[in-house]
Amino acid sequence: MNEKYLFIETFGCQMNVNDSERIVTMLADLGYTPTATPTDADMILLNTCSVRGGAEEKVYKRLSHLRSLKKAKNSLILGVGGCVAQQEGDHLLLKFPWLDLVFGTHNLHLLPDMVRGAENGERRCETAFIDNDQRLDLFPPVKGSSRLSRFVTVMQGCDNYCSYCIVPYVRGREISRRSADILDEVRRLASDGVQEVVLLGQNVNSYGLKSADEPGFAQLIRLVAEVEGIRRIRFTTSHPKDMSDELIACFADLPKLCGQIHLPAQSGSDAVLSRMNRSYSCATYLDKIRALNAARPGIAITGDMIVGFPGESEEDFGQTLSLMEEVRYADLFLFVYSSRPGTRAAGLPEELSREQKVERLERLLGLQRRITMEINKSYVGTVQAVMVEGEGKRPGQISGRADSGRIVNFPGDHALIGSFVTVRIVAAYQNSLLGELQQNP
Ligand code: SAH
Ligand code: SF4
Ligand code: F3S
Repeated sequence: MNEKYLFIETFGCQMNVNDSERIVTMLADLGYTPTATPTDADMILLNTCSVRGGAEEKVYKRLSHLRSLKKAKNSLILGVGGCVAQQEGDHLLLKFPWLDLVFGTHNLHLLPDMVRGAENGERRCETAFIDNDQRLDLFPPVKGSSRLSRFVTVMQGCDNYCSYCIVPYVRGREISRRSADILDEVRRLASDGVQEVVLLGQNVNSYGLKSADEPGFAQLIRLVAEVEGIRRIRFTTSHPKDMSDELIACFADLPKLCGQIHLPAQSGSDAVLSRMNRSYSCATYLDKIRALNAARPGIAITGDMIVGFPGESEEDFGQTLSLMEEVRYADLFLFVYSSRPGTRAAGLPEELSREQKVERLERLLGLQRRITMEINKSYVGTVQAVMVEGEGKRPGQISGRADSGRIVNFPGDHALIGSFVTVRIVAAYQNSLLGELQQNP
C-alpha cells in the first residue's frame, strides 16, 4: 500500500475532537497517515461545527480556499463531516462542486467505504440518523497510544431543545452507551497507560436515564473509579437540571473525581432562562452550586453564558453579572447570541444591535477576567498534584494540569512527562500558574 497523507481540521467541541481521533484511527487502516500540512495531503477532511453562525461561515470560507488545492491536484479527496455536514447534507455537494464527500454525525462508520469510492472518483453524501444505541459502537474506539488522558464517549445527542441551540438537530436523540462497553474501554485504556479519562457527552449527566437496566451517571462514575490504573476522572458537559444529589455526592466521596465541573448557566435571569427553555431557575442553579462547594470545597466551576438573547433587557443582563459574582467561575466561555436556522428562538424578534451585544460581552469579559485572576492568585503558596503532560511555555519548563484543571508550568526535566508530581505554586497569570517542583514521583 502506498503511503497517503490525511489532513484533518477540527472545529467545535470535544465531541468533534474525539470523532476526529476516531477518523484518523479508521483511515490508518486504508493507508492514510496524518500530516500537519494541507499542501502535502492526499485527502483533506473538515470536521465542522454549526453551533453559531460564525463557526458555519468559517467552514464555507475554508471550502472556498480549498478549491485551488483541488485544481492543482485533481486526485485530492475533499470531505466535510460533523455538524455543518449534518445540517446541510447534499446541498454542500451542489454548492461546492470540488467537494467529494459529505458525512453526517451518525455516519462515521461509513467513511472507509466512502473514501474507497472517492479514490475511484465517486462523490457521496451520507447523513441518515441512526436512532438506536448501536450507533455508538459502529465505529472503533481510538487505538492505543501513550497519551495520558483520553476521552471516553458515554452518551451522544441531546433531547433538551434549548430554544437557541442547533445541537439536537445535528446530533440527534440522546442515546447512552452500554455501561459494560464503557468499562471495557476504560480498562483497555488503563492497561495502555492512560491515567485520566474524560467522560464525554452532550449531556453526560443524563446518562442512563432512558434505560432501567443501566446505572445512572453517578453510579457509572463510581464504577469507572474502581478501574485500577485510572487516577483521574473528569466529565463534560453537564446540564444543571440533571445535576443530581447522587452525582454531587461523588465529589465528596471519590478522590479520583477531579475538583472541576463545567455547568453552564447560560443566563442569570429567570425570564431569559424560561425563554431559553432551560428548565431551571437561577435559585435552583445556585442551590446546585452551593451543594457542589459543600461536597468539594474549592471546586473549580466553569460555565457558558450567552449574551444578547432576544429580549434580554438591561435588568436581565445585570442579573447575569450578579450570578457571575455569586458563583465565581474559575473560567467562563462567553458567546454572543447567534440565531440558528430551525431553532425556536430563531422566530423571536431581536432588538439589540450588534454593538449593544458586543458592549455587553465586553462587560462580562472584564468581570470574568478579574474573577479568574483572583481565583488563580488564591493558588499561590499552595501545593498541587500535577499530571505532567508535555513541554511548558518557556524553554526548560514542563507543563501539566492540577486537579482543578488549571494549567501549571514549572521548570523540570522532560523525563517527568507522563508522571504525577507535587508542585508549589509561586505565581499566577490569567491563563496558567507557575510552579516549583517539590518532589519527584
Ligand atoms: N451541551 C452543552 C453545550 C452545547 S453548545 C450544554 O448544554 O451545556 C456549547 C455552548 O454554545 C452552549 O453552552 C451555549 O452557551 C453556546 N451556544 C449554543 N447555541 C448558541 C447560539 N445559538 N448562540 C450563541 N451561543 C450558543
Ligand atoms: Fe444545546 Fe441545550 Fe442540548 Fe446543550 S442542553 S446541547 S445547549 S439543546
Ligand atoms: Fe459544534 Fe456540533 Fe459540538 S454544533 S459544539 S461541533 S455538537
